[in-house]
Amino acid sequence: WIHIKQSLPDPLCVPFPHMYLISVFLASILIIPFGLKTLFPYVWMDILYFGDLLRILVKFVSRRRRRPSFFVLDRFLEQTAAHPDKPFILFENENYSYTDTDKWSNKTANALQSHPGYKPGDTVALFMGNEPAFLFTWLALAKLGSPVALLNHNIRTKSLLHCFNCCKANVLIAASELKEAVEDVLPSLIEKGVTILLMTKHCDTPGIESFSDKLDKASDTPLPRFLRSHIAYKSPAVYIYTSGTTGLPKAAVVNQNRLLTALAALSSNGVTSSDVIYLNLPLYHTAGFIIGFIGSIEAGSTIILKRKFSASQFWDDCRKYNVTVVQYIGEVMRYLCSTPKTENDKDHKVRLAIGNGVRAEIWREFVNRFGDIQIREFYASTEGNVGFVNYAGKIGAIGRVHFFHQKLFPFTLIKYDTERDEPIRDANGLCVESPKGDTGLLVSKITDIAPFVGYAQNEDQTERKRLRNVLKKGDLYFNSGDLMRIDKDNFIYFQDRVGDTFRWKGENVATNEVSDILTISDCLKEANVYGVQVPGHEGRIGMAAVTVKEGAQFDGSRIYHHVVNYLPSYARPRFIRIQNAVEVTGTFKQMKVKLVEESFDPGRIQDPLYILDDKEKSYIPLRSQVYSSIISGNIKL
Ligand SMILES: *[C@@H]1O[C@H](CO)[C@@H](O)[C@H](O)[C@H]1NC(C)=O
Ligand SMILES: *[C@@H]1O[C@H](CO)[C@@H](O)[C@H](O)[C@H]1NC(C)=O
Ligand SMILES: *[C@@H]1O[C@H](CO)[C@@H](O)[C@H](O)[C@H]1NC(C)=O
Repeated sequence: WIHIKQSLPDPLCVPFPHMYLISVFLASILIIPFGLKTLFPYVWMDILYFGDLLRILVKFVSRRRRRPSFFVLDRFLEQTAAHPDKPFILFENENYSYTDTDKWSNKTANALQSHPGYKPGDTVALFMGNEPAFLFTWLALAKLGSPVALLNHNIRTKSLLHCFNCCKANVLIAASELKEAVEDVLPSLIEKGVTILLMTKHCDTPGIESFSDKLDKASDTPLPRFLRSHIAYKSPAVYIYTSGTTGLPKAAVVNQNRLLTALAALSSNGVTSSDVIYLNLPLYHTAGFIIGFIGSIEAGSTIILKRKFSASQFWDDCRKYNVTVVQYIGEVMRYLCSTPKTENDKDHKVRLAIGNGVRAEIWREFVNRFGDIQIREFYASTEGNVGFVNYAGKIGAIGRVHFFHQKLFPFTLIKYDTERDEPIRDANGLCVESPKGDTGLLVSKITDIAPFVGYAQNEDQTERKRLRNVLKKGDLYFNSGDLMRIDKDNFIYFQDRVGDTFRWKGENVATNEVSDILTISDCLKEANVYGVQVPGHEGRIGMAAVTVKEGAQFDGSRIYHHVVNYLPSYARPRFIRIQNAVEVTGTFKQMKVKLVEESFDPGRIQDPLYILDDKEKSYIPLRSQVYSSIISGNIKL
C-alpha cells in the first residue's frame, strides 16, 4: 500500500485532472484486488463461486421457461442426441453408450407398459443393488411419468414393508438376488394387490412374475411424450429414504424441480463431458443417485458403475478406465488410506474427489499419498434446504459462509442443549444465535427458493424437522439436526449430529428403529440405543444398554440371530451393556449422554458387556484385551 501511494502522481502536478482520476481508477482496479487478496485471501474464490451460482441460476431459470416443460429426462435425451455413441455406463464387462442406454430404457418402458399390473404414472418401488438395470429402469419410468421409490437393498422384513408402503407404490421391481427378501414380505404385498416383477427369466413363486424375459422381447420404439404430460415441477420424481430421528426410515420426496436443480451437482464443480466418473456409492442414496448419476447426465460424462466400494480395486479401476472424478464418503477415504502403500499410488488420472465427511487428517494423508487431487467437500441432505461446498479447498471444512449465499438461503447456527436435546430458548421463547467460533445447530429458513418438501405419508416426521419461532415470532426454519461451527475466516465445520441418529459406515442409523427391533426379541425388556466413537473409525458404532425381562436370561446367540435377521449390518449394535434398569432423566427421556461417555470401556463399566462376534455367531462377553485391541486399532470394526 505504501508503495502504491508513492507511485501515484501528485494531483497538483497533473495538468489534466481527469487523467489523474483515470489513473487512480486504473490503479485501483489493478491494485485493490491484490490488497483484498492479502486482507481476505478467499475473496477471488468467493467471487468465482458467486459467478458459478449465478450461471447455474440463469440456466435453471431458462430451462424452467421452456415449453413443453424440461425435466432431467429431457437433458438425458439431449445428451443422447449430442453424442449417441459415447460410452455412458461401463459395468463389469458390460459397456453401454448413450444410445444403448436409451434403447434399454425404451425396452423396459415398453415391457412395463404392456403389463396389465402397471399404468403409466403409477409409483414404482425399485429394490435393486448398483447395476445398469437400476439406471435403465429409472429412465424408463421417467419416460412413463412414474415416480420411483429407491429402496435400500439391505433392508428386510418390517423395514422393507414400511418403506414400500410409505410411498404408496403399487409395483415392485426387484433384482433376482433379492428374491428371498421379497418372499419374506410376500403375503402382505399380495394382500395389497402389488404387482411384483423380478429381474429374472423364470420364476416359480406364485405372486412373483419374471420380468427379464419380457424385457428381452420388448421393442425399443420411442415412448410417446403424452405419457408423461401430467408431470409438473411439483410432482414427485424419486423417493429417497433417510433414517429418521424416531422410528422407521422416512421417504424424502425429491420433486421434479429439485431434481432439475440437482443436475448441476457435478458440472458446478467443473466436471465436463470429457470426465470419467467412478460411481461406487449406493444408487439408493443421494450421493450415488443424484450426485453421481443425475450429475453425470448434465455433464454428459461416462460413468464407471460399481456394485460396491472396494478399497483393493479402487485405484486399479481408476487406471484401467482413466477415471478423472471419484466420489467419496469419509469412510472411503479412510479405507483407501489404510491400504498398503504401493509404488504406483500416484499413477492415475484422478483430478477431483467429490463427497462429504472426510476428516482433516485423512484429507492431508490422502493428497500426500495419492497426489495432487482436488478435494471438493460438500454438505447437503436429501430433504434439507441448505447446502455448502468447500470451493476454497480449506482442509477440514465442509464449506464457506458466503454473503450472497446467506442472502439467498438464510441460515444460521443456534445454541443447542445436547443434554435436553433441544434448542436453547430465551425469555421470549426465541432461539439464540451462536457466536462465531461456537458450535450451534444449523437451521435454515424455509422459503420459496429454499423449500422443505418433507416426507411422504408422514406429516408427523415432517413437522419434527420444522422449527418455529427461531429468530422472530412466527418464522419457520428447517432443522438440519447437525451441529456446526463457523471460524473467523467464515469456514464452516461439521461437528456432530444431534438427536436420535448416528452415522456408521456411511449409513444413518435411527436409534429408535434399532431399539424397537431389540425389544421384540424374546428376552429383552427395554433397549436404549446410541452410537459410540471408536478411534480410527468414522462416525459412531451402535451400542445398546438393555434390561432383561423378568425371569429371562440374556441369550447372546438368540439375540445375535434376531439382530442379523432384522437389521442391516451397519445398524446392528456391536456392543450390548446389560443394566438392571434403563436410566431416565427428569423428563423421563432416556439418558444417553452418560452412556455415550462411558462407551464400551470395561474399565469404566461394571455392568456385563457383550460384543457381537460374527465368527461365533453370538454376542460374547467383551474382554479387556479385546477392548485394548479395538482402541489401539489392531481390531477393525
Ligand atoms: C465400449 O464398446 C465400444 C464398441 O463396442 C468400444 O469401441 C469401446 O472401446 C468400449 N469402451 C470401453 C471403455 O470398453
Ligand atoms: C427411445 O425413446 C426416446 C423417447 O422416449 C426416443 O427419443 C428414442 O428415439 C427411442 N430410441 C429408439 C432406439 O427408438
Ligand atoms: C486411457 O488413456 C490412455 C492414454 O491416454 C489410452 O491409451 C487408453 O486407451 C485409455 N483407456 C481407456 C479405457 O479409455
